[in-house]
Amino acid sequence: MTGGGMGTAVIGSLQFGYNTGVINAPQKIIEGFLNDTWNNRYSEPIPATSLTTLWSISVAIFSVGGIFGSFSTGLYIKRVRNSMLIANVLAFIAAGFMGFSKLAVSWEMLIIGRFIVGLYSGLSTGFVPMYVGEIAPTSLRGALGTLHQLGIVIGILMAQVFGMESIMGNSTMWPFLLGLTFIPAVLQCILLPFCPESPRFLLINCNEELKAREVLEKLRGTEEVGADMQEMKEEARQMMREKKVTILELFRSPLYRQPIFIAIMLQLSQQLSGINAVFYYSTRIFEKAGVSQPVYATIGAGVVNTAFTVVSLFIVERAGRRSLHLTGLLGMAFSAVLMTVAMALLDQLPWMSYVSIVAIFSFVAFFEIGPGPIPWFIVAELFSQGPRPSAFAVAGFSNWSANFIVGMTFQYVEQLCGPYVFIIFTVLLLGFFVFTYFMVPETKGRSFDEIAAGFRHDAGEAGEKYAPDEMNSLGGADSQL
Ligand code: GLC
Repeated sequence: MTGGGMGTAVIGSLQFGYNTGVINAPQKIIEGFLNDTWNNRYSEPIPATSLTTLWSISVAIFSVGGIFGSFSTGLYIKRVRNSMLIANVLAFIAAGFMGFSKLAVSWEMLIIGRFIVGLYSGLSTGFVPMYVGEIAPTSLRGALGTLHQLGIVIGILMAQVFGMESIMGNSTMWPFLLGLTFIPAVLQCILLPFCPESPRFLLINCNEELKAREVLEKLRGTEEVGADMQEMKEEARQMMREKKVTILELFRSPLYRQPIFIAIMLQLSQQLSGINAVFYYSTRIFEKAGVSQPVYATIGAGVVNTAFTVVSLFIVERAGRRSLHLTGLLGMAFSAVLMTVAMALLDQLPWMSYVSIVAIFSFVAFFEIGPGPIPWFIVAELFSQGPRPSAFAVAGFSNWSANFIVGMTFQYVEQLCGPYVFIIFTVLLLGFFVFTYFMVPETKGRSFDEIAAGFRHDAGEAGEKYAPDEMNSLGGADSQL
């Protein structure tokens, strides 16, 4: 039953991934639609600058929706499962706008649809990891938390494959390609009512112990849920003292300042690693690197992306979050250097185009080892039930804002820096490596309450001053990798 609930929840992640990847492959085809629409209205072809602007808005408005959506998770979330169900209304409306934009000869509908599906995706990046984190048993929280990322990467891959010209990335089918987002929404609406409400929510927020126990027994498939119940009650007792935590209080209270800072930095490390420079612009990057079949190389990146998320899923409970995140950041930094070398030497050595494929594939692989999945689910681990929704709102907001910045600026920065553009990501990645090394505790195998207690201890005894050694020993800095 845990599997069913989570499988259904991560349909939301799949939607996020699908809409991240879907606009990439059919760029030329949809630009053709923008041109036709312009022609229809003004009886002249669209000027190049207007085309670029309209295209950039169509791409980036998705992350603007994401910023609003993710931020609002904390504002009116009550019951995660029901909230996920209601959010599907947005997916239906978005599918309608995008799917009928061609018929209506309206790019406004395309842009509005992208914004609304961004809202939905933003909500998903809050709801899914929160729900999964709350219903997963402690020992599997990392592995199951990675399911959110797995949903995302499968969504990206599906969009890349469906977006091929021979499938739906052509002038007749592209509205259907975008409108397809309504199918997962229907599926989720059918399945969610059968999924359990989070037992943690039932016990801690509603004080319904019997119901919580009942759901937990079903989730775990056993009546032996005493330990889980005990852990939740512990968290509840703690919460009685905590009271409700607003977004402002997250920053004001010394109790939460450290975990929220860590959560924000981890989100930034995910986005400012440059991953979406690859997922938004890979075809163009490969083209510039002299690759002869850039679309296939892009799909290759999607396959590597998915494969390594699965790898991470299997090792995250053994290796721990901290060491995987560190490994991922360092590996990405090396790959970014390799990419720069390949781009810089391309003119002298044409075979460098193969090196650039290897570099991008390893960049993506290392991303999925740690920086992809971990920042999403670690937010649920760094906070207890009280501050969790507000923390998700702040974390999501940071993630999507950084996503927007990379998506909007990459092409301009690339024009400025030429082959050296990935050096910027190298520097950022190394900075985040140092931050993670000194500031991020291991959360593997600890109950939410134990993790919170670690931060309380720091806030109380070390005051504002932060003691990295203690934090590392919170979960025993991990050396198994
Ligand atoms: C993460 C990021 C998302 C990115 C994806 C790539 O989920 O949040 O922005 O596109 O990974 O796999």
